Amino acid sequence: MSEDKLAETQAPVVNQSPIKYFISGGFGGICTVIVGHPFDTIKVRLQTNSSYSGMMDCASKTIQKEGVRGLYKGMSAPIAGVAPIFAISFFGFGVGKKLLQQDDQPLSNTRLFMAGAFSGIFTTSVMAPGERIKCLLQVQQGSGGEQKYKGMIDCARQLYKEGGIRSIYKGSLATLLRDMPASGMYFLTYEFIKKKVAESVPEGQKLTPTREFLGTIFAGGMAGVANWSVGMPQDVLKSRLQTAPEGMYTGMGDVFRQLMKNEGPMALYKGFAPVMARAVPANAACFIGLELCMRFLNNVAPNL
Ligand SMILES: *[C@@H]1O[C@H](CO)[C@@H](O)[C@H](O)[C@H]1NC(C)=O
Repeated sequence: MSEDKLAETQAPVVNQSPIKYFISGGFGGICTVIVGHPFDTIKVRLQTNSSYSGMMDCASKTIQKEGVRGLYKGMSAPIAGVAPIFAISFFGFGVGKKLLQQDDQPLSNTRLFMAGAFSGIFTTSVMAPGERIKCLLQVQQGSGGEQKYKGMIDCARQLYKEGGIRSIYKGSLATLLRDMPASGMYFLTYEFIKKKVAESVPEGQKLTPTREFLGTIFAGGMAGVANWSVGMPQDVLKSRLQTAPEGMYTGMGDVFRQLMKNEGPMALYKGFAPVMARAVPANAACFIGLELCMRFLNNVAPNL
């Protein structure tokens, strides 16, 4: 195997074009939602409703009352939203890497973090309204006719009618403060672990496909953990702000003050367990999808 070829198989994601990142990221995003949405529903319910004793309790009550479909409530918004957002997120990362690239050297950890944070700016601008709608749909109880919002479009329309564009974009700052550091850690962790896995191969041997596959799963899972560990407190504030009745909070700082006063700092990590339970498989699925797609593109369109 030539050296070029070897480098390519060992680090398929490094230094790909932003376009390839865009397409593969979108595919990875679809893989993520399918694996992760049920977990997300439980998380949002735990974050906003204190009548559940924990993750399992919430899951079993939801399935009892609403069937398995209850866990997939509100998935139309993320399916429509996540693929393009992941596409944009990975595109942003690809662009960030290009901008920060010096010579032919691999990017330092600091630069990988910065490229990731850069992509967080891209995603927030697209993501904030989708998050608001998703959270509102996820926390509404009951079924069919009794529900306030009939779906994504209906929810957007009602929000617009009640509070204009401002209402639809409620929680944007919280989303930005969540996504920049979280996304920086996400990409850094993935690339860092992938690099370590590639380096762990004994001198003169090749990275076997099995080892690479397991490495991708591990790196993807850990990237998810890193992302959420950094973004979780902001995410709790955001979910509360976005699902609160009109006028309950003046902004993110106000949500924070009231939460600290009434519940203490632990409330910032409410729902952490289900988030972690989700982050590992969902992000492993994402990066497996991403790498497969990237490889496919490298085969069919090497110059894209
Ligand atoms: C990263 O975490 C944020 C919350 O901090 C979440 O909205 C986002 O979906 C996570 N990204 C991935 C790829 O898991």
